[in-house]
Amino acid sequence: MPQTIDKQAVADSFSKAACHYDQFAQLQRDIGEVLLGHLSKPELSLNNLVDLGCGTGYFSEKLNIQFPGASLTCFDLSSVMLEQAKKRNLTQAAFQQGDIDSLPFAKNSIDLIYSNLVVQWSDNLEACLKQLHSSLKTGGRCYLSTLISGTLNELTQAWKSVDDKPHTNTFLSLKDLESVVANCAFSTVNISTETRVLEYKNVVEVMRALKGIGANHVHGHQTSPISGRQLVKRLQAGYQPFINQQGLCNLTYQVCYIEVIK
Ligand SMILES: C[S@@+](CC[C@H](N)C(=O)[O-])C[C@H]1O[C@@H](n2cnc3c(N)ncnc32)[C@H](O)[C@@H]1O
Repeated sequence: MPQTIDKQAVADSFSKAACHYDQFAQLQRDIGEVLLGHLSKPELSLNNLVDLGCGTGYFSEKLNIQFPGASLTCFDLSSVMLEQAKKRNLTQAAFQQGDIDSLPFAKNSIDLIYSNLVVQWSDNLEACLKQLHSSLKTGGRCYLSTLISGTLNELTQAWKSVDDKPHTNTFLSLKDLESVVANCAFSTVNISTETRVLEYKNVVEVMRALKGIGANHVHGHQTSPISGRQLVKRLQAGYQPFINQQGLCNLTYQVCYIEVIK
């Protein structure tokens, strides 16, 4: 299951998107809100919070409001994303550039980790979750959303009609993800899933939406922008089975919410 991911290339993609990320991130907002709803427990008295893969800090701001008085670490691989997060009105916040696969946090130091749509970029989710477990205090909680297999399925299938190269990343199945989480010694685990289907005018819009949030890096493959009328035509033809009754291109996201307690 571990895979090799070019972290610099991932960081570069997200950095390029950082300035306009918020305009394209409606799905990320919606999923992040659901995740935030899982942790609305005002009675929790927390000191140290982490927004893991904070991006532009949209949810860092919400965590700040929800838990006034707690210190918040905004953590991300992309320095440009962190620069965007710094522009927000955050109090008691620290900004740290780093990799979820090589966490810098002290053992037993964190009360709550919130991470919206980030851990699918880990090259070894089990090792990553074990590091999160180690960083949490006993009783500390971690709330994650991620993507599982079935995500971007229409685009994956459409590209198959064009060539044999990978044009989308692969995602863990729910079963594999459940067994990964089970191996990480958390005392309580809640996992739920949800399917979201977005609609786009055409394949160019599909690709533009992925690029808009910086999620266009394909592991082990040089991505080039979709260009050339012939290529667009062939890809659009490959998308034909996934055009809905309104004439729009469906694009599926299989979302997984994970709540774990140490
Ligand atoms: C889809 S965005 C989500 C951003 C934010 N959580 C939100 O909900 O708006 C994914 C974020 O994860 C960050 N990221 C990707 N790989 C990472 C890694 N290995 N370590 C830390 N952050 C990473 C990206 O830079 C990007 O900011």
